[in-house]
Amino acid sequence: MSNELLFLLATLAIVFYIWQRRAFSFWQSRGVKFIRPVTLLGCTREFLTGRVPFFEQIQKFHETPGCEKEPFVGVYLAYRPALVIRDLELIKTVMVKKFQYFNNRVLRTDPHHDALGHNNLFFARSPTWKELRNKISPVFTSGKIKQMYPHMVKIGKNLEDSADRLGSGSNVQIKDLCARFTTDLIATIAFGLEANALQLPKSEFYHHNKAIFAVSLSRAIDFAIIFMLPALASLARVKLFSKDTTKFIRSSINFVLAERERTGIKRNDLIDILLAWRKEAAANPEKNHQTNDLDYLVAQAAVFQTAGFETSSSTMTLTLYELALQEELQDRLRQEIADFFGEEDHVSYERIQEMPYLSQVVNETLRMYPIVGYAERECSQPAEGEKFTLSPHSNMELPHGMSVYVSTLAIQRDPQYWPEPEKFDPDRFAPENRHNINMDAYMPFGVGPRNCIGMRLGLLQSKLGLVHLLRKHRVHTCDQTPKTIEWAPGSPVVASKDDIVLRLEKVSG
Ligand code: HEM
Repeated sequence: MSNELLFLLATLAIVFYIWQRRAFSFWQSRGVKFIRPVTLLGCTREFLTGRVPFFEQIQKFHETPGCEKEPFVGVYLAYRPALVIRDLELIKTVMVKKFQYFNNRVLRTDPHHDALGHNNLFFARSPTWKELRNKISPVFTSGKIKQMYPHMVKIGKNLEDSADRLGSGSNVQIKDLCARFTTDLIATIAFGLEANALQLPKSEFYHHNKAIFAVSLSRAIDFAIIFMLPALASLARVKLFSKDTTKFIRSSINFVLAERERTGIKRNDLIDILLAWRKEAAANPEKNHQTNDLDYLVAQAAVFQTAGFETSSSTMTLTLYELALQEELQDRLRQEIADFFGEEDHVSYERIQEMPYLSQVVNETLRMYPIVGYAERECSQPAEGEKFTLSPHSNMELPHGMSVYVSTLAIQRDPQYWPEPEKFDPDRFAPENRHNINMDAYMPFGVGPRNCIGMRLGLLQSKLGLVHLLRKHRVHTCDQTPKTIEWAPGSPVVASKDDIVLRLEKVSG
């Protein structure tokens, strides 16, 4: 090697060393307790080397030994400083009381080439987000969901039939069954379409839904950029949906919009709202309406499908897994189901919400397995006026653009809030024990004005699936059932690494 080259390399190494020292001094210089970073990977070595999913990395930050008493902990996502907040009061301040400083999420997709990802409610940024949220919220009122309930019950009965077809005594990949159910359900209530995922092994809807959350190396890289390195989203041109899935969603929604316009049929669903936006835009062409853009409408439909299908099917799957491990709890739930069904072939919209043990069971599943795993917000400091500080803990002003994370998974498994946190115990949520629970330490649907818009629907569809499946069937563990749940490392949401296989048996009588 020539002397010049050696000199150049040595100079580069020194420059890099000085730059890194400065980058990694961010938290120390502000007197914030921080997790020691390593070269190139920061504090995210386990995530960036594919050993743990992102939500578990955030959980590990929260649970770092020595930080138990800290209200917040500084971390470096590679070289980007970020803050993990641990104190429940501070979490409320960020998510609710001072929401005006935190109304955006951190994650991004490519704003120029990913119209479906970038423009949807989950990814949208203020002020577009606020406008979208106000316009979409009416779809989720209790009245609207009630109108949709008969369509939902029909899918619930299809689930019972599918379980019958699988046959008593068969070992079943339970996530597959539940995901087919939620695919059909979202397709019917959001778009008025029959996806037929429960009937057709090769349902196109199901195929594309699965592809969104499929764990593969290239998707894992996409998700790493979306969640952790959003500044690269544009450069790397990451998209939420693949080309195929985008084409499919676009053509399905286009078809539904055209059909509705042609027939004039109203169903009080998302499609009606999207059509109303389009009409409004057409009537006022002088305004610069995004709603004239078909992709803007399709993006809203796409997020329903994405957010509504995986979360609820995982909730159902993990509930069934826990109930197979503790069959006495399953029997108790089945008894309640029998009482509430009576002679009918379904439970009414009002009655299903009144089933006390069912609620306890689902609440406990979402405590142990908050499917999204964490919440995140980006700090927006105003150019002028009062800035957000970490008071009363510190006078430090959070820099504009700083990412803030809350590990819902860690908090919901923290023994100071939840005794024996690894035990699945629905009785924690029994009315007589409610006074023992700190509900601030329970946030499976997030917190504040940017929480889950589909909470009511998510709970309802998970419960509906469970009552129809467990009414005439029992789930048992079998030799293929995982003994414990380990997380799938490349998954963007809480999901088991191993397939959850349970033995399905028809209940006699
Ligand atoms: C058991 C089922 C579900 C769970 C556990 C769940 C969980 C969550 C969580 C944790 C968030 C982030 C909240 C935050 O940042 O504070 C979220 C946001 C969201 N969820 Fe859900 N969700 C579920 C079902 C649904 C359903 C059925 C839909 C729609 C059909 C839906 C649509 C959304 C949307 C659009 C957002 C973004 C809201 C916004 O940014 O304004 N979710 N969900």
